[in-house]
Amino acid sequence: MTLAYSEDLETMASKRQSRFRVWISVYFLCWLWSIAGGQLLYSVTEEANTGTTIANLVKDLNLNIQDLEVRGFHIVPGPNKRYFDINTKTGILHVRERIDREEICEQHIKCSLPLEAMISSPLNIYRFEINVVDINDNAPAFQTSVTHLNITESTISGERFPLQSAFDADVGSNSLKSYKLSPNEHFSLDVQSGGDQSVSAELVLQKALDREKQAVIHLTLSAVDGGKPPKSGTTEIIVNVVDVNDNIPVFSKSLYKAKITENAAPGTHVITVQAVDLDEGVNGEIIYAIVKHNTDKNVDSFLINPGTGEITVKKYIDYEQKSSIELRVQAKDKSNNPRGAHCKVLVEVVDINDNICCFITKFGRNSRSSLT
Ligand SMILES: *[C@@H]1O[C@H](CO)[C@@H](O)[C@H](O)[C@H]1NC(C)=O
Repeated sequence: MTLAYSEDLETMASKRQSRFRVWISVYFLCWLWSIAGGQLLYSVTEEANTGTTIANLVKDLNLNIQDLEVRGFHIVPGPNKRYFDINTKTGILHVRERIDREEICEQHIKCSLPLEAMISSPLNIYRFEINVVDINDNAPAFQTSVTHLNITESTISGERFPLQSAFDADVGSNSLKSYKLSPNEHFSLDVQSGGDQSVSAELVLQKALDREKQAVIHLTLSAVDGGKPPKSGTTEIIVNVVDVNDNIPVFSKSLYKAKITENAAPGTHVITVQAVDLDEGVNGEIIYAIVKHNTDKNVDSFLINPGTGEITVKKYIDYEQKSSIELRVQAKDKSNNPRGAHCKVLVEVVDINDNICCFITKFGRNSRSSLT
């Protein structure tokens, strides 16, 4: 009796112990489950073909392949159901529809899609998280295909000009990594990469510009991503070299010579002087003027057209004074800070008697001179 009793006590104790062990194990499993978030993690690359295998659920969930159809194993309807499907004959989770990571997750580094599968009798719900892995399916792109820059030709080397950034929809190593500039004589590129996200570029003037040599410079800026192989996008940079008044007008001659008769009437053409200024616009447009440089009153007998440089007689010349008159002509550009140049015009006043002689050649001095 006592023995039996003690035996009973022993079995009861061991039963309690084993029940306790079971509870401990269940509790431990639940605890593990909660640590893992109750989820299975899988990954699939974006743009994978439909039918691509993601996981063998029969194996991973420890299910019976024969049970799947009978117990109605299926994906629970939700926002991501369209991308995935389960084959109930094989228990394989596979891609059902094209997955575009950029469309679903935009620029987020992490792109994981929650998914639930359900099996009944007994009911069980399984939770998955499917990580969509980025592929380099996007090239960097610029907002505009052409960028215009106005840069003054007097800009000193070292000056910087920020450029527009490109955008690449891919993330991580497939995102925008660097910029490149087409080989050229004047500019270099300074690329600044501030951490993972932003890479920017500045144009740096290396060699002074000269509008009179090259007024427009065409450059190509490329943005390159870090994919393997890398993808790139380009934009054209058109540098418009803005003129400064760095050229002075230059006369076609430093000394012009002209002849007029002493009785030349007002309005008579004397000569046209011409100066050229290589600068652009008002910096290159010239105004002519006669400058009074001495006391010779005859200078006032001439007039110059400020636009064309044509010199005409303004009033009758006092030829008794001098047989030749020296004029000084100034050419000045129309800039706010004009630059100018001067030339001399020597006007010879021909004696009227000589003139008559020359008109009437047969009786005049010419016949005589031919004799001498
Ligand atoms: C460049 O200069 C031209 C002429 O002054 C002006 O019309 C144009 O807007 C300027 N462009 C830029 C990008 O500053």
